Amino acid sequence: MNSGINKAASSAPAKIILFGEHFVVYNNPAIVAAINRRIHVVAQLNDKSRVNIKSGQNSLSIPINSNDNDMMSHDNSSVSLFPIFKCVKHVLDEKNLVNAGVNLEIESQIPHGEGLGSSAASCVSTVAALYSLFSDFDKNQIYETARIMEQNIHTNSSGVDCYVSTFGGIVNFEPEKGFSKISPRKKFTLLIGASGIKHSTGEVVSQVRQFREKNSSLFNDLSSRAHHICRRAISSMNEGNESELGSLLTENHKLLSILGVSHPEIEKLIKICLNNGALGAKLTGAGKGGAVIALIPTDSSDEVIAKIGSGPGKWIQVEFDYDGVILG
Ligand code: PMV
Repeated sequence: MNSGINKAASSAPAKIILFGEHFVVYNNPAIVAAINRRIHVVAQLNDKSRVNIKSGQNSLSIPINSNDNDMMSHDNSSVSLFPIFKCVKHVLDEKNLVNAGVNLEIESQIPHGEGLGSSAASCVSTVAALYSLFSDFDKNQIYETARIMEQNIHTNSSGVDCYVSTFGGIVNFEPEKGFSKISPRKKFTLLIGASGIKHSTGEVVSQVRQFREKNSSLFNDLSSRAHHICRRAISSMNEGNESELGSLLTENHKLLSILGVSHPEIEKLIKICLNNGALGAKLTGAGKGGAVIALIPTDSSDEVIAKIGSGPGKWIQVEFDYDGVILG
């Protein structure tokens, strides 16, 4: 086996969409940030020509030459790991290792199906651990491969989740211009509240497509408002203006509610945030469930977090992650 090392570990961060989800699908900007919750992957080569994956309660063990049809015989929990299997197959094929196999152990701090980028982070950390087996750790290469592999999970994905998970930081994404980094003047305090309601991004995106077809002038108006919010949000971050940033989050949420992608549980969580001192709050990601993000005033963060946390909902305080994917 012409590998560099036998075992490698890597981790990649989750993400939140601060502004612009859904509207980004129709050529508007979105602002996306990596956060300090990670997926860790340990990859080890084996000489059994099998891929053995363990991830929490789920596991999959199949020959490396398996194809999509072979997956039909597996149960749902194993099928959920098939995109990870495809990452392994892709990298081993690229390295011309036809008879090799890999054992993968995955540990996640990111709830799945809540719009926090667990699919992207799992592809990025898996691809990074695999490349590291061959002493390659090039973030551009990791991003390109993970972006293609993530499309096995989210067809037509913009690649923005994989981008922030690979490179970290806060990014303004404009479909026609690409990615540009935002460097805020101050550290913001954010809280994430998980509704526990799983969503399917694909389904919510199609509902929005139907909304747009039926309400084209309203949709255009909402899009230009969302676009303007992104522009103002970049200035607020650059200036460190947290109260304006908070108001923009809430404004963006109102647009998403009009689009019909909120959910009663999400509205409940947002009310809790706004009634207890958050500067602003919105759903993050596709919606119809998933998570909310709230901006907490820095000068009274402990007090506000305690108040929000004492009510219903599952809350975690997060920070932006500036490392992206790392080894170890
Ligand atoms: O829930 P998520 O993180 O999969 O968010 C999807 C973001 C959308 O704008 C709704 C879709 C997209 O591809 O950008």
